[in-house]
Amino acid sequence: MTEKTPKLTPEMLVPRLGDHLVQQGHISKDDLKKALSYQQEKIARGENILIGQALLELKITTKEMLDQAVTEQIIQLRSALQATNRNLERRVQERTAELQNALKRLSELSELKANFISNISHELRTPLTHIKGYFELLASKSLGPVTEEQAHALKVGQRSTSQLESLIEDLIMVSITSRGELTLKQEVVDIRRIAHLTVKAVTEKAEKRDVTVHAVVDKHLPAVQADSQKTIWVLGQLLDNGIKFTPAGGRVVLRVEHESDKLITISVTDTGIGIPPEQVAEIFESFHQLDGAATRRHGGMGLGLLLVRQIVEAHGSMLEVKSAEGRGTTVKFPLLTTSAE
Ligand SMILES: Nc1ncnc2c1ncn2[C@@H]1O[C@H](COP(=O)(O)OP(=O)(O)OP(=O)(O)O)[C@@H](O)[C@H]1O
Ligand SMILES: [Mg+2]
Repeated sequence: MTEKTPKLTPEMLVPRLGDHLVQQGHISKDDLKKALSYQQEKIARGENILIGQALLELKITTKEMLDQAVTEQIIQLRSALQATNRNLERRVQERTAELQNALKRLSELSELKANFISNISHELRTPLTHIKGYFELLASKSLGPVTEEQAHALKVGQRSTSQLESLIEDLIMVSITSRGELTLKQEVVDIRRIAHLTVKAVTEKAEKRDVTVHAVVDKHLPAVQADSQKTIWVLGQLLDNGIKFTPAGGRVVLRVEHESDKLITISVTDTGIGIPPEQVAEIFESFHQLDGAATRRHGGMGLGLLLVRQIVEAHGSMLEVKSAEGRGTTVKFPLLTTSAE
């Protein structure tokens, strides 16, 4: 037996038409009951009719009254829908305003933080310049003779001031990048010279830790398009990490490889403690250091890699970190040569 579907009528648009007719006093409760059981009988026989049709067939109501009831209900539904829409729009507006306020407050806070870092770094730099200058004068004996012990003390003082200086430079770099003010001075860079220069600058520190450090640079390297000061800084940071996180007896290598006419790659590989795979993303978070004990021993603020990545990305490049726990880490990025468009 195939069920007949009811004819398409406006009644299909409204729920509980029978109840509405009773509420409006158009029909009695008994009439409705009668019509419902009539409808059930028809359905049982495979004729699927709506309650309005049942009322018409039983002559309880007229077509006009039915149409009017359906129209009334559609109007009611439409105004309920409009009211809900208005309510919804108002709530969306309220939420949007709240979110806008929160965003404004957040950017104010982040600007405040950037200004604070910037101000404090500049304030720290001025007195440090004086200390550094006087240390140099004393060490050069321009202010009179110094004993061997005093010379040693001055050396320690000078080393500490340069550490402090580089921390302050890092902070200044953070404040610059967090304000989106990182600009590059694009120059033709002799990457071979820079590689040897940066390795030389960290050799003493590496030797003290019994770690060897050297540069392996491909012959006939093409010139590279980059910001030379910032590239030097980046290599210095990567070498510093390599040395810091490599136990005595280990090795750190700075490699510059000629990939193609248009590309060279720079990598710093160490045989150090490595980074657990699930923590690789964390090393780029500001002020984040993986191993509290190790970093306390090695110093630093947990800013280096964040800035390194920002500088590398400002060059249109990407930093890649490969690491195996207990075996070492390689940090690598490509740079465009001057013949690349
Ligand atoms: N070569 C590496 N081997 C093992 N862990 C590393 C290496 N480089 C970075 N890390 C981990 O990532 C963290 C963040 O490195 P990052 O250079 O940003 O900070 P930092 O070296 O601790 O301090 P800063 O660079 O500010 O002096 C380090 O503290 C360390 O836990
Ligand atoms: Mg570092």
